[in-house]
Amino acid sequence: MSEPVRILVTGATGAVGAALTRALDAAGHRPHGVSRRGGTGPRQHTWSAGLEEPPPALRRTWDVVVHCAADTRWNLPEEEAERANVAPLRAVLGLAAPGTHFVHLSSSYVTGLTGDIRSPSPAAYRNSYEWSKARAERLVHAERDSADIVRFPVVMGARADGSLDRYSGFFWLPSSLCSGAVPAMVAEEKALLDIVSTDDVADHVVRLVAGGPPTGRRLSILGRGEDAQPVAEVFETVRAALNSWRAEHGVPALDRLPSMTPEQWNRFYLPFAEEHLDRAQLLRVTAFRAYQGYLSVTEPFAVTHRVPDTVEVLHRSIRRWAETHQSSARRVPRAWS
Ligand SMILES: NC(=O)c1ccc[n+]([C@@H]2O[C@H](COP(=O)([O-])OP(=O)(O)OC[C@H]3O[C@@H](n4cnc5c(N)ncnc54)[C@H](OP(=O)(O)O)[C@@H]3O)[C@@H](O)[C@H]2O)c1
Repeated sequence: MSEPVRILVTGATGAVGAALTRALDAAGHRPHGVSRRGGTGPRQHTWSAGLEEPPPALRRTWDVVVHCAADTRWNLPEEEAERANVAPLRAVLGLAAPGTHFVHLSSSYVTGLTGDIRSPSPAAYRNSYEWSKARAERLVHAERDSADIVRFPVVMGARADGSLDRYSGFFWLPSSLCSGAVPAMVAEEKALLDIVSTDDVADHVVRLVAGGPPTGRRLSILGRGEDAQPVAEVFETVRAALNSWRAEHGVPALDRLPSMTPEQWNRFYLPFAEEHLDRAQLLRVTAFRAYQGYLSVTEPFAVTHRVPDTVEVLHRSIRRWAETHQSSARRVPRAWS
């Protein structure tokens, strides 16, 4: 009988890491997982990578290390983003031997505003998250002769039922639609929002693991590419999913939002809003500004692996979000004047 493959998944309690751990299990592997707080399943370890020495249980020879651990918040100061996304990677690279199959998970948005990861300047990226993830990719290139880098866009839940182990980033949208924090759909007319399911990422990584380490550094980019949903349709899918859930729970439907371009919003509405809104409303509007860059991507990602349609995945994931965040999903938005 052949030796089992020794696999370590970092960030194993996160949205992607947990789905990957289940997929590796289903493929007959017995992966170990690590996260800051530690998971509940078998072979789960606790380690704050980059902040403390690895525990003895992790200091062994790994055949495969899949690095999913990250902090996906966009608004960290640069030093904190570096501590969150670069220092942990450096520590995890220290657990990998030259022969280890190293798989690093990254974001399709890592190429920032210039279209590649080369710039060390924060000004070349939409935010400190992208900047730190680009820096992380450059570190993998510098430290590893062989590695898989897997980029993907916004992550939704499982294809079967939309379930996700952790909600972050994008789920600001359904929450804000229900609370009324989004006054308008601000997006470029031709903007696309590319989406994958956790299953797409997990299945891809399981296939990479089965194929063994690449010669050199290999980049995969998952997504729908030019078949991604236009942002306006994404908003409608999210609203339809919320309204189907709300109808079943006796909550009034959400109205369609007025749409406008970022240019119209920033030049005409925002200055007016800044003059007339109260502090709480202004805070919501300012928070909303951070998302505009992501709703204005008109160039499709050059995907290497096209995933199946994601409209149903989005619908199911939003319904699932509503089911698991009932007080947010039941809110009736206050009208903006
Ligand atoms: N979510 C998306 O839409 C998206 C899109 C594109 C790319 N990605 C990338 O996909 C990967 C996974 O993201 P995700 O959405 O699954 O993240 P997530 O749900 O926020 O989970 C993050 C995981 O990383 C762990 N972690 C964070 N810092 C750590 C550290 N210093 N040491 C050990 N564990 C640490 C967390 O542990 P605790 O449970 O203890 O907090 C958790 O298990 C990341 O590389 C991310 O950049 C995500």
